[in-house]
Amino acid sequence: MRKPLIAGNWKMNLLYSKVPEYLQTLSREINAKSHLKRDQVDVLLAVPAPFLGIAREYGEKNGILIASQTVHEKADGAFTGELSIPMLKDLGIRWTLIGHSERRQYYNETDAAVALKTKACLDHGINAIVCVGETRAEREGNQTETVLKRQLEAVLQQTGKADNFVIAYEPVWAIGTGLTASDEQAQAAHAFIRTVLRQKLGGAADGMRILYGGSVKSSNIKGLMQQPDVDGALVGGASLDPVEFARIVDCQ
Ligand code: PGA
Repeated sequence: MRKPLIAGNWKMNLLYSKVPEYLQTLSREINAKSHLKRDQVDVLLAVPAPFLGIAREYGEKNGILIASQTVHEKADGAFTGELSIPMLKDLGIRWTLIGHSERRQYYNETDAAVALKTKACLDHGINAIVCVGETRAEREGNQTETVLKRQLEAVLQQTGKADNFVIAYEPVWAIGTGLTASDEQAQAAHAFIRTVLRQKLGGAADGMRILYGGSVKSSNIKGLMQQPDVDGALVGGASLDPVEFARIVDCQ
């Protein structure tokens, strides 16, 4: 039985001074849904680096996990602007996104770099949410499975274990566009991802969570969550409003 994980990704949005109010509102909205069993869903927010400390403080009080949006694979050194795993752990942060398509697209993060970051996280007890997904041209060229396999195998060659490891399937054409994969498209991609994971990790792959991301909203989350291999969501734009995000947390 896989526990759903609903993750928000604020990207480069919101302000430090708004973090306490956001987390209090989110928590209040979630708690107001009395049918929602709080221990049956994990809720996480990936916030900008300057907010990590305050978000952890308020997140901890309210049962909300806090993640970095990226991390460097090296423990320290001359890497201006980067964030290390020891820095995250020192702040009490135990989660990070890795290889979001915006990192791949704008900061040239290659499959090999994503794999090294993932390995560093898993080796040092940080939970990694590794993002994969095809572009529109790749989908239209029937390359979806080839791309997913390439992205996953790069990571699996480095890691070889399922613990602390979550995959987010985010078709690039659905991110921030208002276009969502249909429930069937999401399920097909997730089932394929689980098959690739199983080839390397065996039965442990059945315990791994695979999140869907790309224009998730309260109006489409329920259909997605009914799919057998969709174990949660990675939510960008709709996570910026705590009331809407709480509705998405109420996903089953
Ligand atoms: P979106 O972003 O929900 O705004 O499409 C998803 C993501 O990039 O994680």
